[in-house]
Amino acid sequence: MTWLITGGAGYIGAHVVRALREAGERTVVYDDLSTGIAERVPEGVRLVEGSTLDSELLHRTLTRHTVTGVIHLAAKKQVGESVEQPLHYYRENVEGLRVLLSAVTEARVPCFLFSSSAAVYGMPSDARNEPLVTEEAPCVPMSPYGETKLAGEWLVRATGKATGMSTASLRYFNVAGAASPELADVGVFNLIPMVFEKLTEGTAPRIFGNDYPTPDGTCVRDFIHVVDLAEAHVATAHRLQAARGTHLTLNIGRGEGVSVREMIERINALTGHDVTPTVTPRRPGDPARVVASAHRAADELGWKARYGVEDMISSAWEGWLRRHPGAGRGL
Ligand SMILES: NC(=O)c1ccc[n+]([C@@H]2O[C@H](COP(=O)([O-])OP(=O)(O)OC[C@H]3O[C@@H](n4cnc5c(N)ncnc54)[C@H](O)[C@@H]3O)[C@@H](O)[C@H]2O)c1
Repeated sequence: MTWLITGGAGYIGAHVVRALREAGERTVVYDDLSTGIAERVPEGVRLVEGSTLDSELLHRTLTRHTVTGVIHLAAKKQVGESVEQPLHYYRENVEGLRVLLSAVTEARVPCFLFSSSAAVYGMPSDARNEPLVTEEAPCVPMSPYGETKLAGEWLVRATGKATGMSTASLRYFNVAGAASPELADVGVFNLIPMVFEKLTEGTAPRIFGNDYPTPDGTCVRDFIHVVDLAEAHVATAHRLQAARGTHLTLNIGRGEGVSVREMIERINALTGHDVTPTVTPRRPGDPARVVASAHRAADELGWKARYGVEDMISSAWEGWLRRHPGAGRGL
C-alpha cells in the first residue's frame, strides 16, 4: 500500500512515517510546513508541500502516487490559541478535513486514519468512581481545539459509513519522547518540555494546584511514548486494510497515571537537576485525573505500549540538549 501522511513533517507524523517504513510500507508526506520541519522527512520519501485546504493539489497527489490509505495528522493543536482564534482552528482542522475527505472519496481511497485527542472528553466524570476513561465516556470538549477533533471524528465516521471506506479515529493521550534527538518535539506546550524550559532558564517549574483529590494532590495524566503511538498507527493501518468497512474509535494511552509532581521528580532524577517546583493556584478547566482505558486498543489491534516514563523523559531530554546545549548537567 501507499500511505499519504498529512502532517508527516510534524513531531508525531515524522514518527508515523518512520514506523510505517520500518513495517515495509510506502509513504508520501503532505504538509504545508506551518509548524512542520522539512528535514524530518527522510530521504527517499516524497514531500508534497501544500495545505489540506488545497483540493486540486490533494487530488493530483492522491492519483499521481496511487495512494491507498491516508493518515491525517495535519492540524493546529494549541488549546489556548484555539480559544483566541476559533475560526482559524475550525477552518484548518474541520474544513481542511472536509476538503481532504472529498478528495479521498473522489479518488476512492479505501482506508482513512484520523488523529484525534483525549481533548474530546473535556472534564471526565468523577475520577474516584471511574479511574479510567473508556471510549464510551461522554465527549464534552472544553476548547475549540477539542471541538474540532470531535467534529472531525463525526465527519470521518459518517463519510466512512456513506462510502464504505474503512476509518479509525485514534484519541491520543499525552504524547512525549522521541525515537531520536532530531525527531523530538520542538514545541513547548506539554509538561515535559515546559519543565525542561524552566530547568534551562534556572527557574522553578510551576505546579498548578496541589489540592486535587489525587494521591499527592496534583493532577494525574496518562503519558504515552511517541514511538508506541506510531506503532499503534501501523497496527491500525494494517487492521483497516484487512477488515474493510471497519470504523474504530480507540484511546491510545498506557492506562497508567503519573502525577505532575511525580513527573517533575523523575525529570530531576534523570537530568541531574534538583529543582523544587512552586505551587500556584489551580488553572480553570484542568481535570484532576485523565487516564485512558487502553483495553479496546489492545483487543482491536493487539497493540500495547512498551515504553515507560523514563524512556520518554530521557529521549525528550536528548532532543532538548541538541537544541539547548547549555542545559545539561546529567544523563
Ligand atoms: N502532540 C500531542 O500531544 C497531541 C495529542 C493529541 C492529538 N494530537 C494531534 O496529533 C496531530 C499531530 O500533532 P503534532 O504534535 O505532531 O503537531 P505538529 O504541529 O508537530 O504537526 C502538525 C503538522 O501538520 C502540518 N499542518 C498543519 N496544518 C496543516 C494544513 N492545513 N495542511 C497541511 N499541513 C498542515 C504542520 O506543518 C505540521 O507538520 C495533530 O492532529 C494533533 O492535533 C497531538
